[in-house]
Amino acid sequence: MSRANVIDIGYLIAAILFILGLKGLGRPRTAPRGNLMGATGMLIAVLVTLFDQSILSYQLLTIGLCVGVGIGALLAIRVQMTSMPELVALFNGFGGGASVLVAASSFIEVTELGQSDSQTAVAAAITSLIGAMTLSGSMIAFGKLQGKLTWNGFRGLPIIRALAFLVSVALAIQIGGFQPEGQLSLWLLIAAGFLLGILCAVPIGGADMPVVIALLNSLSGIAASTAGFVLDNSLLIIAGSLVGASGLVLTQIMCKAMNRSLLDVLFGAAPVASSSGDDIYGDKVTSTSAEEIAMLLEISERVIIVPGYGMAVAQAQHAVRELMQTLQKREIEVSFGIHPVAGRMPGHMNVLLAEAEIDYEHLLDMDQVNPTFKRADVTIVIGANDVVNPAARNDPDSPIAGMPILDVDDSRTVIVVKRSLSPGFAGIDNPLFVADNTLLYFSDAREGILEVTKSLTES
Ligand code: TAP
Repeated sequence: MSRANVIDIGYLIAAILFILGLKGLGRPRTAPRGNLMGATGMLIAVLVTLFDQSILSYQLLTIGLCVGVGIGALLAIRVQMTSMPELVALFNGFGGGASVLVAASSFIEVTELGQSDSQTAVAAAITSLIGAMTLSGSMIAFGKLQGKLTWNGFRGLPIIRALAFLVSVALAIQIGGFQPEGQLSLWLLIAAGFLLGILCAVPIGGADMPVVIALLNSLSGIAASTAGFVLDNSLLIIAGSLVGASGLVLTQIMCKAMNRSLLDVLFGAAPVASSSGDDIYGDKVTSTSAEEIAMLLEISERVIIVPGYGMAVAQAQHAVRELMQTLQKREIEVSFGIHPVAGRMPGHMNVLLAEAEIDYEHLLDMDQVNPTFKRADVTIVIGANDVVNPAARNDPDSPIAGMPILDVDDSRTVIVVKRSLSPGFAGIDNPLFVADNTLLYFSDAREGILEVTKSLTES
């Protein structure tokens, strides 16, 4: 069998594993297997690509591999679970940047050889534009998610953005047409794409950030896919398209979960943060204690737990499992209500609860759990805020108006566990705190839940 045949068969197997892996990732139970399949596919893809001796020398590849593994491992080891979106943003950016380098080097090679290859030229132009936008947009998203970048742009930004877009399109057309000055145009296009990425990402903020991360993820896949056309590499085209398409699906799911259109997210105003909850609700909330909560739980038949970002910060998932087991021993029915954007990354709550070995059968998504709140004696909201904010449902002027939320206020009693009256990610006050059936338990989520379990065990 020829070398080319071995490479083609290897790529085919890798592509099949990517597709099956992606399918497996669609359900929590099959996700670990899906992950393994995807990783195996990638290993095969890398080994088969190395088999192609017309690419770089093995020494250079080994150096690149070591540098990449070193940076990746360092970032992955150091990152906190709550900072995962920042890391994802950074990796999206690196993906876009890598595609730009691939496109630029191939284009330079082709032009230096005086060849007129329109596939390379068109693909290099598209890759450079999308890749550069992904790189700079991801850097801005990274800074915003870290809270270090608070700049939301300036007055004439939409005009400059539109100009940068028009210049990019003109340059891309010129490169695709293979003009003699193509190399200079390519560098200008990369610069324009970089500027466009910044101008698109800067005005976005607040609760819209998850949508942007999903979109940047999709763009990094599209850039990789078009880089596949530059290199004439079928596997890169397939893998990039899969990332691009799944990123778009995720973007759409996120938009739906927040009742925002993609155009609103990209070109609408960022939600405005309001004043601190302490100023508005300070003397109107009813606070409670671990002992009082234990007494309420004792006489309950159905309890729903709604976790949010605060559970992740406090690493309270194991304490939550202990509480669930204590309740179940008393034959109290326990389920979990999971909002699609609770926490700071897609599936954040599912990952934490799985880590604490809480069975998936107890986890209900928003559509499943919402009709059941009416039958719940107690709903315990642990470090969640925006995803249970009734203003989204009741106040048409709220910045999160229309965002589907978990209807926890339908339960007989709602217990909110958090440390203060501070707002959540969107910076919006939450009228749930002063509802007649809400009790506030001011505590760190982990400490507080351990106290409640202790009181329940002792009672
Ligand atoms: P948030 O609205 O962010 O509220 C989290 C709450 O947790 C805060 O009000 C905070 O109040 C509390 N908290 C923080 N540390 C705590 C601790 N140690 N113990 C107890 N409570 C603690 O969370 P959410 O309801 O999960 O909503 C998620 C938000 O993040 C949405 O706006 C969503 O759009 C956004 N977002 C989501 C994603 C994805 S993909 N999931 C990505 C980026 C952004 P205290 O400070 O008073 O304790």
